[in-house]
Amino acid sequence: MSARNPFRPTFGVSPTILAGRDSLLQSFKLGLAEGPGSPFRALLISGSRGMGKTVLLNEFEDAASSQGWITLRAYPDNSMVQALMNSAIPEALQKLDGPQSKRMLSSVSISGIAAVTTIADPTKKDPTPTLISRLRELATTLQKHGSGILITLDELQSADVEQLHILATAVQDLLRDDFDIALVAAGLPEGIDRLLQHEGTTFIRRAERILLNPVSYQDSVNMFIETTAEGQRQMASDAAELAADISKGYPYSMQLTGSLAWAQSTLDNSDTIQATQVEAVRAEVIRRMGMQVHEPSLHHVPDGELHILYAIAQLSTDGEMVSTGNIAHLMNVKPNALSMQRKQLLSRGLVEVPKYGYLNFTLPYMREHLLSSPQHRPIA
Ligand SMILES: Nc1ncnc2c1ncn2[C@@H]1O[C@H](COP(=O)(O)OP(=O)(O)O)[C@@H](O)[C@H]1O
Ligand SMILES: [Mg+2]
Repeated sequence: MSARNPFRPTFGVSPTILAGRDSLLQSFKLGLAEGPGSPFRALLISGSRGMGKTVLLNEFEDAASSQGWITLRAYPDNSMVQALMNSAIPEALQKLDGPQSKRMLSSVSISGIAAVTTIADPTKKDPTPTLISRLRELATTLQKHGSGILITLDELQSADVEQLHILATAVQDLLRDDFDIALVAAGLPEGIDRLLQHEGTTFIRRAERILLNPVSYQDSVNMFIETTAEGQRQMASDAAELAADISKGYPYSMQLTGSLAWAQSTLDNSDTIQATQVEAVRAEVIRRMGMQVHEPSLHHVPDGELHILYAIAQLSTDGEMVSTGNIAHLMNVKPNALSMQRKQLLSRGLVEVPKYGYLNFTLPYMREHLLSSPQHRPIA
C-alpha cells in the first residue's frame, strides 16, 4: 500500500510509460541512421500546452544518445548562440577527447620540450570562431566516431528571431556539407506561426512539421494499466477505460487522472484501482486542468477573442462543435466580423475547425472551465 504513485502530472517530466509516440520515435531514429538527406533532420514539433512536446524532445535526445549522438540544448533567449558556442560545444568537445587530453597533459609534464610546442604563436591569430566553425569542429570530431550532433530547442515560441536565424543558417551549412546534424524545435502553435513569418527563418519553415495529436484511446487504456502495474498496483480494465474516457487522450490529463485515481485508491486502502475510484476524481481532474492548463492558456487572450470562446462554451452541448453562424448570432454581429479573432484563436491553438464553418475547443474541458469561471457572463 505504501507504493509510490507512478503517474507524473508535472510538465516537462517524462512519464513512467510513454503512450502513443512509437511511430514518431521510430521515424526519428530512422532519420538519424539514414543520413543528412533525411527530412527528419529538421523537425518542428507543435502542440498545445500539456500535449507532450518537452517529453518528446527528451525521448528524441535519448534516442540520439543511444546512437552515440551528442545533444546540444539550445535555450530560447537572446544569448542562445553565445551559450552554444561558449559552453555547450566546448563542453561536448572536452567530453569527447577527455581521456586523450589527459594523456597529452601527462606527456607535457614529463617532457619540457613538448610543453614549449604548446605555446601559441602570437603572430598567428585564429579567425574569430563562429557558430558554424564551432559546430564544424565538433561535427568533424564526431564524424570519426561515426556519430553526429542533435540540437534541441524547446519553447521555440520564445526564441529570438535573430538568434534563430544564426542557428538555422549554421545547421543548414553543415547539412549541406553532409555532416551528421539534426535540429528539433518544439513550441506552441501560435508562437511558431508568428516566428515563421519572419524572413531568415526559411530553413525552419521548410522543416518537417509534426503536430502532436492526442493519444489514441487504446494506447491510453494501455498506458493506465501499465503505469499502475509499474507502481505495484492494478487497474481494473473498466477503470482504465473510464480513465481514458475522462482524459481524452491528452497526455497531461492522462497523468492527472491516473495520479488522482491512484491517490483515491490509497485513501480507500485498495491495491486495485476500480472504476468507482476513477469516477470519484473526475471533478478534481477538471478543476486541476483549469488551474494548470486553461488559465495559463487564456492569460494573454484579449476580450474580443474571449467572447468568442464564451459563446462556443455556451452554445456547445456536451462538447459538440458549434457553427460560426450561431456564434455570430449569439454575439449579435455579422459572421465576417469575427474572422480576425477566429484566425487568432486558431493560431493560438485554442480552437480548431472540425468541419468547414464550425469551431470547437482544442483543449479538453475548456468549455467546463469557461462556464464555471467567475468572469463568465452569459451573452444572451
Ligand atoms: N506520450 C505520453 N504518454 C504519457 N504521458 C505523457 C506523454 N507525453 C507527455 N506526457 C505527460 O504529460 C505531461 C505534459 O508533458 P509535457 O511534455 O511537459 O507537455 P508540453 O511540453 O507539451 O507542455 C507530463 O506530465 C508528461 O509526463
Ligand atoms: Mg513543454
